[in-house]
Amino acid sequence: MNRQNQPGGCKCCEPTDTGRRSVLTGALALALSSTIGSDASAERSPKPAPGDRLAFMLGERKDQEIKPADLEIGKEPTLAYPLDPASGKPLISRVGLLVVVRLKPEELQPSSQRNAADGIVAFSAICTHYGCPVTTLHPSQSQIVCNCHGSVFNAADRGAVTAGPATRRLSMLPLAIQDGALVVAGALDGPIGPPT
Ligand code: FES
Repeated sequence: MNRQNQPGGCKCCEPTDTGRRSVLTGALALALSSTIGSDASAERSPKPAPGDRLAFMLGERKDQEIKPADLEIGKEPTLAYPLDPASGKPLISRVGLLVVVRLKPEELQPSSQRNAADGIVAFSAICTHYGCPVTTLHPSQSQIVCNCHGSVFNAADRGAVTAGPATRRLSMLPLAIQDGALVVAGALDGPIGPPT
């Protein structure tokens, strides 16, 4: 059996890609592993819930709210966490990690369109193959890539797998824009991460 297809734990630390993307994936895997334990201490479920806003996971605006204008068509996906409406703090957890990308609205298929907000779509960022974070925009600009083993998910079609080794789509998160803010409009529509 091909090693990449063997069942088991995440192979985040063994990315096949090189250069900046591999460094980014490794750093994210490390960050994820250090936050898994926070799930149990959250006052509410760390999963995104209707009415939540979203916060940047990385960068100069880490933990700050993501506005629709922050997201541009053709830019690399943004990794995000839900913001707890009560405390205003990000709910940092593996199950809450999201990948958000803005597409051309006319490219969205009905399966994604119904959950999109002005072309912005969001998915669980946990790859359904081995659980690496999905971080990179495909050259098509409507698909997103997991750099660990190269799985590709179609953001314009509800996270459908267009290239393996993953075999299950990413769970999609319904979004809406309310009073100029990007908000969660429903629950993730499927399981998170690899089959257990
Ligand atoms: S973890 Fe293997 S392709 Fe994503």
